[in-house]
Amino acid sequence: MLRFIADFGHVFRERTKAMDDLTRAHNEALLQLCMAAEARDDDTSVHIVRIGYLAQKLALLLGSTPAFASLLRRAAPMHDIGKIGTPDHVLKKAGPLTQEEREIIQRHPQIGAEIIGKSSVPVFRMAAEVALTHHERFDGTGYPRRLAGEDIPLSGRITAIVDFYDALTMDRVYRPAMSPATALRMLVEQSGTAFDPVIVHTFVQHFDQLDALRQKITQERPGFADLIDGH
Ligand SMILES: [Fe+2]
Ligand SMILES: [Fe+2]
Repeated sequence: MLRFIADFGHVFRERTKAMDDLTRAHNEALLQLCMAAEARDDDTSVHIVRIGYLAQKLALLLGSTPAFASLLRRAAPMHDIGKIGTPDHVLKKAGPLTQEEREIIQRHPQIGAEIIGKSSVPVFRMAAEVALTHHERFDGTGYPRRLAGEDIPLSGRITAIVDFYDALTMDRVYRPAMSPATALRMLVEQSGTAFDPVIVHTFVQHFDQLDALRQKITQERPGFADLIDGH
């Protein structure tokens, strides 16, 4: 009997390790795909990585559990994976979009959720949730489902904010990077409309810490392996 239990324990550990390795490999493959999805922008991989760390930090500042926050670190970077399905001429267009082009862009949350798929693995379940909900707006005018307030999952509400802030502080083909102060002001202007006011408030309160983290990630450029394996 003892022998059986020991064997069983061994098999169980091997199996768990194999599952972990598989999850890790799948996570990394999806992140590579995210890079490809956004590769039309420069500096994308560090943006993706920054989103992960900033989302984790903000979740902790909001009082989320460390387990939730570290899942979000791995899940949030996949929010725009569905852009792999958006044609270049729409994604790269410099001028204003037509109605039809806007509709094409607005499919990326759904496409993203489909790429990640329905999974029982927590990180992928959260990643699909983030992909699907990161363009919902707090006032209920976002897409694709026009969810409002706390009907939008916390993971999506946090990711929307860090993505907005971080994207503004990057150079884009159509505009230079904005200063942290300007980006923060633009975030605050949309508190309660686009963004959850409680999360924006927390962001403002801890702005120095969050922006220092953003700069640290930019300098140190941790890779996907650190993002997946860190705590
Ligand atoms: Fe997006
Ligand atoms: Fe982004």
